Amino acid sequence: MSRARPSFALQICETADAAAGAAARLIAQRIRSDPGRPLGLATGATMIPVYARLAAAFRAGEVSFARSSSFNLDEYVGLSSSHPAGFHVFMREHLFAHVDLPPDRALLPDGAAADAHAEAADYERRIERAAGIGLQVLGVGVNGHIGFNEPGSPFTSRTRVVELTAETRRANARFFPPGESVPLRAITMGIGTILEADEILLVATGGRKRDALAAALLGPIGEHCPASALRLHERVRIICDQAAGAAIPATLIEAARDERA
Ligand code: GLP
Repeated sequence: MSRARPSFALQICETADAAAGAAARLIAQRIRSDPGRPLGLATGATMIPVYARLAAAFRAGEVSFARSSSFNLDEYVGLSSSHPAGFHVFMREHLFAHVDLPPDRALLPDGAAADAHAEAADYERRIERAAGIGLQVLGVGVNGHIGFNEPGSPFTSRTRVVELTAETRRANARFFPPGESVPLRAITMGIGTILEADEILLVATGGRKRDALAAALLGPIGEHCPASALRLHERVRIICDQAAGAAIPATLIEAARDERA
């Protein structure tokens, strides 16, 4: 059966570890070829082995972040930059402390800002002033969210304050100290902001992501599934493991195959 070529490239790796390696190689390659273009970075357990590989590549002298800059997707409202479950600490722990990215060029929204709405608008302006993002790295939530854009987020949305769903708060409770509840709100880049990146890399691993990935790549494109917006972008690569890609039919895998990184 023939199928029109999808708008995205799909790379299914045997294991989560192999997917992390493929993602890190792509990121390192983009840093080497265009070091001045800002990176868009994501948090989440999926990214931990990706960042570990990037740190190893830096130690091996294969990549330098010295000329890079980065914008993270999101941060919880109300968490300071030293909160153990906040994304500032996550990024320091898993990437920034291990590479030569200049700290003043590694940006995240300030979750502790007195006025979260003003902070969100300011973050969007900073991205604009940097002339946008080159490679945007994304994970995906079990409900299809990207960044913290929950189902129902407009595809035109910009960086803003959002309410988190109960499902997302439950999924992320594992990162919080026992007894501490997950914040109700976050600042996130919008879907419109994300779609303006030159290129997007979505990484999904593990069976928990199987349905979200299938909905994003095969289901109707719409606000019910934020990750489906990626099909409107012309330069998207999905790297997943076999568990996350288990519901993707062989015909689509074949049509979207592209081993080039
Ligand atoms: C968080 C982040 C997302 C991330 C998602 C998946 O909610 N805001 O950017 O993609 O979780 O996380 P994990 O990789 O831990 O499943």
